[in-house]
Amino acid sequence: MSVVDEIKARVDIVELISGYVPLRKSGRNFTALCPFHTEKTPSFVVFPETQTWHCFGACATGGDIFTFIQKRENLDFPEALRLLAQRAGVTLEPPSEKRTAEEQLKQRLLEINAAAAQYFHNLLLSADQGEIARNYLAHRGINQQTIERFQLGYALDNWQALSDHLRMRGYRQEDLLAAGLIIEREDGSGTYDRFRGRLTIPIRDIHGQVIGFGGRTLDPEGVPKYINSPQTPLFDKSSVLFGLDMAKGAIRAQGLAVIVEGYMDVLQAHQAGIGNVVASMGTALTEEQLRLLKRLTKNFALALDADAAGDQATLRGLAVARETLDREIVPVPTPRGLIRYESRLDANISIITLPPGKDPDDVIRESPEQWTQLVSQALPVVDYYFQVVTADLDLTTAKGKAEARHRLMEIIREIGDRVEQTHYIQKLARLIRVNEEVLWRDLAGRQPRRQPATPPEEAPATPAPLSFGAEEHCLSVLLRRPYLINRLKQMLLDMQEEPLRGDEFAHSENRAIFEALMARASTDQVDIKTLRDELDPALFPRFDALLQGPASEPVLDDDQATFDLVAVALRIRQQRLRSLIQELRFLSEETMSGEDVRAEEYGEIMRTYTLALRRIHQALATRSTLRRQVGTT
Ligand code: UTP
Ligand code: MN
Repeated sequence: MSVVDEIKARVDIVELISGYVPLRKSGRNFTALCPFHTEKTPSFVVFPETQTWHCFGACATGGDIFTFIQKRENLDFPEALRLLAQRAGVTLEPPSEKRTAEEQLKQRLLEINAAAAQYFHNLLLSADQGEIARNYLAHRGINQQTIERFQLGYALDNWQALSDHLRMRGYRQEDLLAAGLIIEREDGSGTYDRFRGRLTIPIRDIHGQVIGFGGRTLDPEGVPKYINSPQTPLFDKSSVLFGLDMAKGAIRAQGLAVIVEGYMDVLQAHQAGIGNVVASMGTALTEEQLRLLKRLTKNFALALDADAAGDQATLRGLAVARETLDREIVPVPTPRGLIRYESRLDANISIITLPPGKDPDDVIRESPEQWTQLVSQALPVVDYYFQVVTADLDLTTAKGKAEARHRLMEIIREIGDRVEQTHYIQKLARLIRVNEEVLWRDLAGRQPRRQPATPPEEAPATPAPLSFGAEEHCLSVLLRRPYLINRLKQMLLDMQEEPLRGDEFAHSENRAIFEALMARASTDQVDIKTLRDELDPALFPRFDALLQGPASEPVLDDDQATFDLVAVALRIRQQRLRSLIQELRFLSEETMSGEDVRAEEYGEIMRTYTLALRRIHQALATRSTLRRQVGTT
């Protein structure tokens, strides 16, 4: 028995979850108000028999004790494993040496950053030389409280003041380098401080730990205006939002995250009591940044520069926003509005248009009320697109109309929701004075075709024997041929099926391995050895077995393997839907007898699942017919 299984055997899911939310017995199962989203009627169910949980409401997800703890405590799998192991009294192998070394380095870098932030801060507060920075902040309207809350600081105009200070306290030269606080001279004759004669702004992670710095020149002509910490083991600019540690409470409470560009915008906003503001630090918004925010709210408002460059950044940011959110679409198509869990898709992105030449900093300083008003007038993203995309066109001419139709149909095509799509088709039709029908035809003409992939030339006559289960088979192939990940994804999309997701795997170890693999695959090339090193050692035995593959399997070329993979992926989805339907059946039997008003809703969800299942069934049938034909001719 693997440690994961052992932990599962020892920790009862009902007992575990009831420590977090009050559970109510309902027949064989337990229900509760979902701890992950707000709701009035319980759609969160715990199934003691299978030791699983599922939210049939907005989350539309579920899992076992591990997923529950991961979600609830905001932990990754290894962390959840450790927590639950402790609870179960199961001893885990110590993390691999490499992992420990990395963790230790990060720990040291955090300490160094904290010490540097404090050092800079003290200089700003009380050193004579800090006067220039104090004056600068006063001139920009930043008050003492903000200076302290954000621990703003001043770096002396000196080549090694910081490194002398930190080395005297016992921090190692190489760690200062790794923290990005000092820079090696090209000629190898030593190092110098990165931040000199600048206002320093500690950048923190969501937990409030200092992971890097921004440094603003105090010279109005100074270039560059800001310097930032370089990429370090702690700091990756693309996955950090400045101010998030301070803003998370307000974002959650208000259900809205406002994303601005600059440090100063955030400082000014928070100083004015506008707490839900974070900064992307000047670059286009990245997927990682949105992921961070999505844990807090689904409503984003982007306040980016109104100038042309700003528009570009906005558009780039929007593209990312759409992609990220679209990828999160639940695998089951549901009639929108009918079923609550569909609100997962309802991430609302809107755009705040600022007065020309002003950034949030200026607006808020002048009038916090005006800021509030601008935020409330933010345009939904598609409306904003309409405005931007047609700004340079003359819509009275045929040419202008054609161009507007071309540009806007691109956007309308991306709208997942039919009602919303109709709304914008009508809007475009009015704008360029054409018949709606014409536009609908535009749309139909370029929808992805629903067509099974071309069968391979020489497929084996019988499907590969699955001595592994579908999940293991799928993982085993992906681990050995990670370059097929994208092909699998594409083929599923071609069949109008969503890409496979981690929570479709029933087995927690499989899920953890799959998610680790996908996380790697989305950033760069998958190196299996690195991937293994990053896993928790508790997963090694299974990982190695998967890498080894089943005892006997046919030799397949990549096309054949992909063909199989698609089938296996669909089978995993099928299994999950089946067990969900099974669970729902229990539920509706129980609610029938009770006073619960959700029976109808459960029925609705069940129908959707059943439909999805039928589609998969058909897809699989088509494929096996194709294969048989190929096999016999
Ligand atoms: P801006 O140029 O709009 O600066 O860059 P700002 O925030 O308005 O700064 P102030 O008000 O003049 O002090 C927006 C953000 O882009 C990043 C910083 O995060 C900045 O806050 N940036 C800008 C850099 O990293 N480096 C630069 O040289 C300039
Ligand atoms: Mn500014």
